[in-house]
Amino acid sequence: MKSPRAVFVCQECGAQAPKWMGRCLECGAWNSLVEERVSETGTAFPSGGNRYLQIGTPGSAKLYADVDTTNAVRLSTGIDELDRVLGGGVVPGSLVLLGGEPGIGKSTLLLQAAAHFARQVGPVLYASGEESEHQIKSRGDRLGVGAAPLYLLAETCIERILEEIGRLKPALVVIDSVQTVFSMKFQSAPGSIGQVREAATQFLFAAKGQNVPTVLVGHVTKDGSLAGPKVLEHVVDTVLYFEGERHHAHRVVRAVKNRFGAVSELGVFEMTGAGLRPVPNPSRLFLSERASGTPGSAVLCCVEGSRPILVEVQALVSTSTYGNARRMAIGIDQNRLSLLLAVLEKRAGLSLAGDDVYVNVAGGMNVEEPAADLGVVAAVASSVRSRGLSPSTAMFGEVGLTGEIRGIPQARLRVREAVRMGFTRIVLPAANADPEDPALGGGDNGPAELVGVRTVAEALDELIA
Ligand code: TYD
Ligand code: MG
Repeated sequence: MKSPRAVFVCQECGAQAPKWMGRCLECGAWNSLVEERVSETGTAFPSGGNRYLQIGTPGSAKLYADVDTTNAVRLSTGIDELDRVLGGGVVPGSLVLLGGEPGIGKSTLLLQAAAHFARQVGPVLYASGEESEHQIKSRGDRLGVGAAPLYLLAETCIERILEEIGRLKPALVVIDSVQTVFSMKFQSAPGSIGQVREAATQFLFAAKGQNVPTVLVGHVTKDGSLAGPKVLEHVVDTVLYFEGERHHAHRVVRAVKNRFGAVSELGVFEMTGAGLRPVPNPSRLFLSERASGTPGSAVLCCVEGSRPILVEVQALVSTSTYGNARRMAIGIDQNRLSLLLAVLEKRAGLSLAGDDVYVNVAGGMNVEEPAADLGVVAAVASSVRSRGLSPSTAMFGEVGLTGEIRGIPQARLRVREAVRMGFTRIVLPAANADPEDPALGGGDNGPAELVGVRTVAEALDELIA
């Protein structure tokens, strides 16, 4: 028997080196090389079969037109909000990665989905390297998991899990988590890059080979990226992130990569005493505690994926008591805030020097799109002038450096959502307001009035009379 071969693997980028070095030659990370041993005799598959199994149908190249897509079914997880992010359900044979901070609710969501799936589609194998069967069951009892062909396996050895998959032939496999499982082929600790990569590859081949959809749970590091390697994101078909503030009840599942659907789709949940509850109407949730008409509060219409959501953005401008004025943004980009404040000073004549500016998107939402600019600008101006905006006004629009309000995509969707939520006045970019279009100012908006604006100054005149 050959002795195990030692390689040094960078835990940041996965590059390999034959000897230890203080710095990775590939990515330049310091002190990131860790010794990993590969045993040449180990086999990845219990059967000892080919390591690189066929992913598609074997044979020669096929004509595009001859490829059959009619069997591209989707299996519902029984949780609408999760199905939505997956692009309509789980695709058989797909490998999904669900990332999120510890305690955010990954295991809870997957146990709920597994129970639904087991009841409606077929047996599910839930392999956990983090909790015992007993722990999982006591949580399941709280979630109301009744009788269903749901198999629990407290196991961390990949080869053993694959054996169980072969034996049970489940309709869905959940691995909680990819950082706790290990392959007997490597001697490095679970969670090291070699082990994580091996786990992803082995489960990929199992998923494709046996056409069983597999969900991997992944931990994220402090800086918010998936722990271990980027390679994980390249291997899997779909990457979902579970986000949310620990102190807020609501949680958001976001797709950042999806080979079977649109990315940036959003699923919204609320953490309750009996697990995660889907929120079909997030606008109502985010606006539920709105301080209507108070200075510094504005409602903006953003779109996440194909879904319009109304959120409240709040601003507080107060005289700075100390030398440096503070600018703090929660829920929007800090640099974007600085840019918008500069535009407000220069183009709308607001004096903010010597003032602290705090901006917060209520409810813990993160708004990344530029369409939020107008809402931020309005909230800040409203706070500066101590005048509240009309509680029945919603807005959206991008602010340019010359103070112009630029048109943005999916205006119709935003207007429709605002009207649905009972807003009667919508301030939007003039480029988006189209009197010819019945949905954008032509009249079909019931009682809602659409106001197209061209500049920040014009918008503030309309909003803060
Ligand atoms: P969990 O799914 O264990 O998180 P993860 O797997 O992402 O680490 O969720 C744990 C948190 O969720 C825990 O702090 C308690 C809370 N929780 C509830 O509020 N209600 C519930 O019904 C359950 C099961 C958990
Ligand atoms: Mg967990």
